[in-house]
Amino acid sequence: MEKFVVTGEVQLNGTIRVGGAKNAALPIMAATLLCSGVSVIHDVPCLSDINAMQEIMRLLGAKITREGRTLVIDTTAIHKNEVPEHLMREMRASVFLMGPLLGRFHKVRLSYPGGCAIGHRPIDLHLKALEKMGTVVKEKFGYIDAEAASLSGGEIYLDFPSVGATENAMMAAVLAEGVTIICNAAREPEIYDLQSFLNKMGAKVSGAGTDTIRIDGVRRLKPAEHTIICDRIQAGTYLIAGAISRGDVVVENVVPEHLFSVIDKLEEIGAVLEVGSRSIRVRSKELRGVDIKTLPHPGFATDLQAPILSLLTIAKGTSIVTETIFENRFKHVDELMRMGAKIKVEGRTAVIRGVPKLTGSAVTAPDLRAGGALVLAALAAEGTTEIEQIYHIDRGYENLEENLKNLGAQIARVKSV
Ligand code: UD1
Repeated sequence: MEKFVVTGEVQLNGTIRVGGAKNAALPIMAATLLCSGVSVIHDVPCLSDINAMQEIMRLLGAKITREGRTLVIDTTAIHKNEVPEHLMREMRASVFLMGPLLGRFHKVRLSYPGGCAIGHRPIDLHLKALEKMGTVVKEKFGYIDAEAASLSGGEIYLDFPSVGATENAMMAAVLAEGVTIICNAAREPEIYDLQSFLNKMGAKVSGAGTDTIRIDGVRRLKPAEHTIICDRIQAGTYLIAGAISRGDVVVENVVPEHLFSVIDKLEEIGAVLEVGSRSIRVRSKELRGVDIKTLPHPGFATDLQAPILSLLTIAKGTSIVTETIFENRFKHVDELMRMGAKIKVEGRTAVIRGVPKLTGSAVTAPDLRAGGALVLAALAAEGTTEIEQIYHIDRGYENLEENLKNLGAQIARVKSV
């Protein structure tokens, strides 16, 4: 076990370049299973979630090698279409394997991914979408057996624009017979990236980025080469890091359109942003409270709720943060209160009364983004903060301490006793 030790109140200055997005890479890795052959995926982040996905795919028979930031995935010898329970529990994103394995083998056995720290995270919408394409789903003893003699296109309406369900449905539909329409589809940029990859494989997908996606089924797909889009959540986190440290930070390799809601809120909070075509510069002095509601894209991303909440703890006045996507995503609040933040949570709403300063203390990362939020709070806090259970942070923030050190932060990874 390791922990971060952060000495706060250091202004961050300099430039940081973000890499490929974990949430785009995971479904695209799964999509390589749709056909036999060697796909090459560039700018895949080095993260424990990616390693876990590699392990599961290897267990299914894939040969995967990493050359720097490139993954070479050979899916020729896939011999299994069943993911064991302990891996499903460890790695929720393994649910992405369902669509591709169904598409290729017409049969898949997975166990229930179960709940996780931020909420129950059911997969009913994934299953409903697959059933609409002719899949028979049987659930027994915690296992899901999904089988389709032949997948056929259909009209799928998602009750909620679930990112994962949209991606699973897209991956199953590319080899289905006929046309599939996904209505109320999620519009996240990662879905557009999946569409790009599937089309490079020979699929016919259009509409990603809007709420209606059309997939014209094809008979055969081929392996493809692709570069993953940049990580908007890491980019947003570094922008908030610049603002919370009252520094001057340039975040490079970003697509500003993916970050409009964050840019808008940071400006409302009082930060000064300069938005270039592929970079954003942030500076800040005075911070003021604002209200934020998380929403499906292009609304404010739930994955940036915890990080921006850290910023609001030291913004002047009162802020109200409403979490509408996940029911249990305020776990960072108790930890921030240990650092002197004044926050009251009622259901899905947190009321934050800004304090002049946070103070360093011993805290624990409850989940990935909440962990990122604690690092940000530590950067602004007086004295030293120790953050335990940073394996959560390693799931989704690549080289976090190196990147922050390069901006001047005092942060060290040390063994936890
Ligand atoms: C993805 C992201 C995650 C992000 C989330 C929302 C990946 C690997 N993860 O997660 O970082 O926080 O989108 O932007 O891309 N739901 C159901 N039934 C379902 C599926 C989802 O009720 O079958 C609910 C969930 O419980 C949640 C909401 O829908 O309340 C959104 O979940 P979803 O968009 O599916 O998130 P993920 O794809 O799991």
